[in-house]
Amino acid sequence: MKQPPAVDKGGQVAYSFPMNADELRSKYIAFFKSKGHAQIQGKSLLPDNDPTVLFTTAGMHPLVPYLLGEDHPAGKRLVDYQKCIRTGDIDSVGDSSHLTFFEMLGNWSLGDYFKEGAIRMSFEFLTSPEWLNIPVGKIGVTVFEGDATVARDEESAGVWKSLGIPSERISYRPRADNWWGPAGATGPCGPDSEMFIDMGREPCGPECAPGCSCGKWLEIWNDVFMQYNKTADGTYEPLSRTCVDTGMGIERTVTILNGKKSVYDTEIFAPIVRAVEEAAALVYGADPERDRSVRIICDHTRAAAFILGDPKAVSPSNVGAGYVLRRLIRRAARHGRKLGITGLVLSPVARVIIDRLSGPYPELEENRGYIIAELDREEGKFLETLQKGEHEFEKLLPNLLKDPRRVMSGRLAFKLYDTYGFPIELTEELAAEQGLTVNRSEFDEAFRNHQTLSRAGSEQLFKGGLGDQGDMAVKYHTATHLLHKALRMVLGEHVAQKGSNITAERMRFDFSHHAPMTTEEIREAEGIVNAQIARDLPVTVKVMSLEEAKTDGATALFGEKYESRVKVYTIGDFSKEVCGGPHVERTGGMGLFRIQKEQSSSAGVRRIRAVLEKES
Ligand code: ALA
Repeated sequence: MKQPPAVDKGGQVAYSFPMNADELRSKYIAFFKSKGHAQIQGKSLLPDNDPTVLFTTAGMHPLVPYLLGEDHPAGKRLVDYQKCIRTGDIDSVGDSSHLTFFEMLGNWSLGDYFKEGAIRMSFEFLTSPEWLNIPVGKIGVTVFEGDATVARDEESAGVWKSLGIPSERISYRPRADNWWGPAGATGPCGPDSEMFIDMGREPCGPECAPGCSCGKWLEIWNDVFMQYNKTADGTYEPLSRTCVDTGMGIERTVTILNGKKSVYDTEIFAPIVRAVEEAAALVYGADPERDRSVRIICDHTRAAAFILGDPKAVSPSNVGAGYVLRRLIRRAARHGRKLGITGLVLSPVARVIIDRLSGPYPELEENRGYIIAELDREEGKFLETLQKGEHEFEKLLPNLLKDPRRVMSGRLAFKLYDTYGFPIELTEELAAEQGLTVNRSEFDEAFRNHQTLSRAGSEQLFKGGLGDQGDMAVKYHTATHLLHKALRMVLGEHVAQKGSNITAERMRFDFSHHAPMTTEEIREAEGIVNAQIARDLPVTVKVMSLEEAKTDGATALFGEKYESRVKVYTIGDFSKEVCGGPHVERTGGMGLFRIQKEQSSSAGVRRIRAVLEKES
């Protein structure tokens, strides 16, 4: 059924051209195939070759090496759809438009067409009756206005004009708006030209033009003209060949094409929203506060299901991508509680997401069991924490509300964290709901002091002695696994870990062995560890029963108490150990491993002190 072109209640929509996400995905791919592009597979959400970001944030991310000059096996014209996560706006999720997980359509030219070719194809796809059929009169664009480094982009403006976009709908914007590079700040980048749809509202003033954020113009697509590689020292090196990188957000485009006000009103989210409505026995759209919780559950569960369903899945943890995953699950779970859901919230919603999205993303179906089990486990664990924490917060509330400044002390927030494991973000959220803020710097200070104390006081927080979970500590933790295996290779299978202690500066490793190591043995063990670092091995984690872990050949510590389900960390083809984590995602970039000292620790136990030095 086609909706009549009309203005909806919010006065936003001036036309409508219904199309669902599956149709948009296939049309986009078909269009670019018809223009000589090869379809490539979207890649993992957890980037392979980029330590600067936790997640794939745009379709170009997996293509960075090719944008920088490598040849792509599929050719010079590529098209795909890519799952992406952006966490920068995580706190805004819950409004009508922000998402953490989204899908991006993209086409690329690797040294083939440039501005004119890209813009002509974008225009044809947007306006041709055969494709999206958007009236030319509804389209506005922005182009780069130029600065000291790169000239004003008259070329792009000229192409738009030749296609029938009038000057008043071509807006020149500064670098802050019309320059694109990947989230990691380094890498291929250049000026861009963005495409907007006129939502039919009155302009907010005489200056209102495409790119204005008042709500009249909504961006749906971005053509980036990659010309430079921004290096770590901030310089812009010209690329060996110019490239085009484009990105069209599926959720946003479907929203606009269907004349909806919010992504949550589209068919993409409707069944997911329905799953929450059923779980909470409520009707979406009846109460703004409850609607916000529904949206947070939908978005966060979708993101969590995709992270867990990824071939390179991480599990919830306290660092990196695992921490983001934990936060997503916990925040969704808390909003489930707010809606009065007493059982598990995420897995029933995730089942709908898996059913709906396994077509384009078969990995979801393949990992269904793991996704559901991990969601249930993390949510279950969190519910216990939550009950205690919320109860304590409520006890504190009458006193907090007496404070005329409406500030909750960081000390109290820390107490909730320290005693009940209640995350600071949730304390802040509970506080905000009551019109309170939390003194975050005081919390951070208490947190730091606590870390120092616990480092000094506890040698063995858990296997690995990982009191400090900063970047360096995480690297040392992975180095511990590499060293453990290397020692077993050099000295023999009798070597077993007897203890370990890690700070941000060094690691200590105790192991069973009857004699001092020779200089050759020390060099050999070092060499083996460094070789694994140089191989840039991926570190992956799977949750399994202890029995399975042992059958699988994982090293577990003799005499150690383990839960019935354990995490097994595998480093490439080199090492496999039962361990709580966290670890680096890949071994590359850990530094140069050097054993500084080897000495006796106690009878039959040797101790190694080692460092990871910066590679020069
Ligand atoms: N990579 C560009 C973007 O995400 C296309 O906007």
